[in-house]
Amino acid sequence: MRELIAVEHLSFSYPDGQQALSNVSLGIYEGDSVAIVGPNGAGKSTLVLHFNGILRSNGHVKLMGRPIDDNNLKWVRNRVGLVFQNPDDQLFSPTVFDDVAFGPMNMGYSRFEVERAVERALGLVGMSGFEKRSPHHLSIGEKRRVAIATVLSMAPEVLVIDEPTSNLDPRGKRDLVDVLMGLSITKIIISHDIELVKELCPRMVIIDQGMIVADGNTTNILADKKLLTAHGLATM
Ligand SMILES: Nc1ncnc2c1ncn2[C@@H]1O[C@H](COP(=O)(O)OP(=O)(O)O)[C@@H](O)[C@H]1O
Ligand SMILES: [Mg+2]
Repeated sequence: MRELIAVEHLSFSYPDGQQALSNVSLGIYEGDSVAIVGPNGAGKSTLVLHFNGILRSNGHVKLMGRPIDDNNLKWVRNRVGLVFQNPDDQLFSPTVFDDVAFGPMNMGYSRFEVERAVERALGLVGMSGFEKRSPHHLSIGEKRRVAIATVLSMAPEVLVIDEPTSNLDPRGKRDLVDVLMGLSITKIIISHDIELVKELCPRMVIIDQGMIVADGNTTNILADKKLLTAHGLATM
């Protein structure tokens, strides 16, 4: 299988000195659906912010063999779609159409191509017909799906989603899991939601205190109660 993202010995500290990642190595392969699980503050968001170059670190993260750096950020962001934990960080336009069209417009697509990309992306997340609505007045579940559409409209190779089901009610969660299940794209999903992980991700990675402490088959890892207890995940 083709390796899309390669993380090699990545360590990262924030400017205030807080160490968030320590010597992390990880490969993401084409067709993977990987859950990234770990307690609050473990470094999950910090890790995925490296996947599309929002955070950068001198060659320790490669996309399709190329180190992510200041010179190829546009190329990287066309291929790795990152959905933030809070959809309000992703949605800023007066209409759903404008938000989902933003990426393709920036790419210089024709009006026709932009419309086609928006239609396709909204269809993939079950939000066709919402084009003229204001993103700010949608439910949290609808906002999440539109936020996903804003990155799918760019037709990325990899979809990275940070805690997609937090604050969703059971129906919103079900709808979102169904949407994710229907997407035949390489997925990296940060989640605390073990039901979601079981359903969507055959592979899971556990991060604790900035280190990868497990990476493997989800069923096997979830059966290892000692491991889960050691990393504060046992009640899941
Ligand atoms: N912008 C920031 N500045 C300083 N420290 C941060 C910042 N963002 C996160 N951290 C710290 O880095 C560590 C990892 O955080 P984060 O990646 O957000 O964890 P997770 O997503 O697993 O909850 C935590 O100790 C957190 O407090
Ligand atoms: Mg986080």
